[in-house]
Amino acid sequence: KRIAHEVHDVAGHLLASAHLSLAQMQKKAPQLRTGIAEVRRHLDRIEEQMRRLSHELRPTVLDDLGLLPAIRFLSEGVSMRSGLQVRIESPVVGRLRPPLEIALYRIVQEALTNVVKHARASQVHVGVEVHDGWIHCRVGDDGIGVDRSRASAGAPATGLGLIGIRDRVASLGGTLKIESGQDHGTELCIALPLESAHESSRRAG
Ligand SMILES: Nc1ncnc2c1ncn2[C@@H]1O[C@H](COP(=O)(O)OP(=O)(O)O)[C@@H](O)[C@H]1O
Ligand SMILES: [Mg+2]
Repeated sequence: KRIAHEVHDVAGHLLASAHLSLAQMQKKAPQLRTGIAEVRRHLDRIEEQMRRLSHELRPTVLDDLGLLPAIRFLSEGVSMRSGLQVRIESPVVGRLRPPLEIALYRIVQEALTNVVKHARASQVHVGVEVHDGWIHCRVGDDGIGVDRSRASAGAPATGLGLIGIRDRVASLGGTLKIESGQDHGTELCIALPLESAHESSRRAG
């Protein structure tokens, strides 16, 4: 991340200086206009490449800081866009294996998207905790509950969200429970083993 910022800041500063020098040069030597314009075009191309490079180098909050900060970041965005109140409850959870962090992040992301899209909830809580070699994650809302007839119909119109969650959980040797009742809201309970003993190679991203 530091490299990305350095590239961006230092190179950006140098490029700006180069543009300034060119502007001064043009004032003193108007006859060089065509040549100077060409150098400017090169500088613009360099700038574009630098921007792309620093963008690719910049790691995500998830890579950088881990699951909980990433979930907090995600939740703030969801709250801001939807007005949903997101409460996060978690004791300190350190860094986990990348496949676990990625899977749980994607799961929470899909779960929150579902709450916004379907639940008509005003509040949602996200709980993450580690114990006995497992990481437990819950996402519960106070909405209308899952409409069984729609959720189990498997119609093409139904998205792949829950299926995707089930898939990720299965490939990591974990368990998924969905508890839902009318007027009780919906809660997703996921547990994944911290060690990779039962993991299939099926899906890690
Ligand atoms: N938190 C929730 N509250 C109410 N209904 C839900 C919730 N999450 C999922 N559902 C129901 O389950 C269905 C399947 O969800 P999903 O597989 O994510 O597909 P999609 O979100 O694309 O419709 C949804 O269409 C919705 O009817
Ligand atoms: Mg969905």
